[in-house]
Amino acid sequence: MQLKGSSRKAVLSELKKIRELDQRYDDGKILCSMCTKPHPIAKKAYRMFFESNLGDSGLFSGSAQLEKEVMQDLAVLLQGKNAAGFLVSGGTEANLLALLAARNIAEIAQPEVILPESAHFSFKKICNLLCLKPVYARLDSSFRVDSSEVENLISNNTVAIVGTAGTAELGAVDPIDELSKIAKRKGVYLHVDAAFGGLVIPFLPKDKPPFDFNLEGVQSITVDPHKMGMAAIAAGGILFKDAKRLNYIKTETPYLTDKFQYTFVGTRTGAAAASAWAVFNVLGVEGFQKVVGDCIKNTKLLADGLKKAGLPLVVEPTLNVVAFRDRETKGLAEKLRGRGWFISYVPHYDCIRIVVMPHVKKRHIMDFLSDLER
Ligand SMILES: Cc1ncc(COP(=O)(O)O)c(C=O)c1O
Repeated sequence: MQLKGSSRKAVLSELKKIRELDQRYDDGKILCSMCTKPHPIAKKAYRMFFESNLGDSGLFSGSAQLEKEVMQDLAVLLQGKNAAGFLVSGGTEANLLALLAARNIAEIAQPEVILPESAHFSFKKICNLLCLKPVYARLDSSFRVDSSEVENLISNNTVAIVGTAGTAELGAVDPIDELSKIAKRKGVYLHVDAAFGGLVIPFLPKDKPPFDFNLEGVQSITVDPHKMGMAAIAAGGILFKDAKRLNYIKTETPYLTDKFQYTFVGTRTGAAAASAWAVFNVLGVEGFQKVVGDCIKNTKLLADGLKKAGLPLVVEPTLNVVAFRDRETKGLAEKLRGRGWFISYVPHYDCIRIVVMPHVKKRHIMDFLSDLER
């Protein structure tokens, strides 16, 4: 920091220059992100609640009301009429809180969690923090966790099993209905990581895989408005089927307006809650069906174009994620990157992965496919 401050004009002009280093969703080159350009109303709402801190919500009861209403909307969407939870910093914190609850409920000396091999990498951080031993279950030929393997891996030390509704790499949806039956039968906690799929699956035009609180065994769900929900970052979400579970993650606060905090992050922006609230209310279910429907149409356009170009898909897309291979996939990924496309190369599956988010339009896909041909 310099001793004397600069003029606002100078600071803004410097910021403008530096912002040019950031990619912009509008350019249509970001094909690897599970976030997207926030809805225009999200930006307005964010500005209005810019000062708000949900970490001391007695001071910001309007913002707290918005958070409550967003969580109620999510609970209804995910069929959990008594579900309760919070907006958090993202899917990582949401998954952390779910496993914290599961671990504290179980009170086991050497706790283990059963994860699909495809579980998001956030679970590695979480196991580290919570001293949980990760036990990985293999996938079947469609990259969904093998539920019989999950059942076999359950031991006296298992505090939770996890299923993913929309994996980050392939958009695969684990057989959550089968996991739910196993969880019920064995009396084990089941957490569903629907950070991405939670705001996609309910709005799919058809073939909605089961994943929500309708399934008896599902105890908690991660669902992030800052991904397909088109809200501003940081808006992750965690919902527990039974509000009593919140007692297992609460911490007393010595000096705040709230007696307890339930989130890991203390100071949290109410602006993200306002942005999610605004998007939910402007779009409604029909608006989200249109957004998701368009992404699915563009996903099909891309998948068909890739097949036509002789590039096999790793798996038929369930959601708006496409993964494909070439004879030399890594080299192709590097060439595409050289042409300005931001795609992911995933070594584990030796594939190029594209997430067809709302900012990826038909024209961007056509440009991408013709660059690929070249
Ligand atoms: C399935 C899944 N879970 C968890 C996360 C972590 O979310 P965040 O980056 O918001 O913490 C992601 C991120 O893409 C995800 O796709």
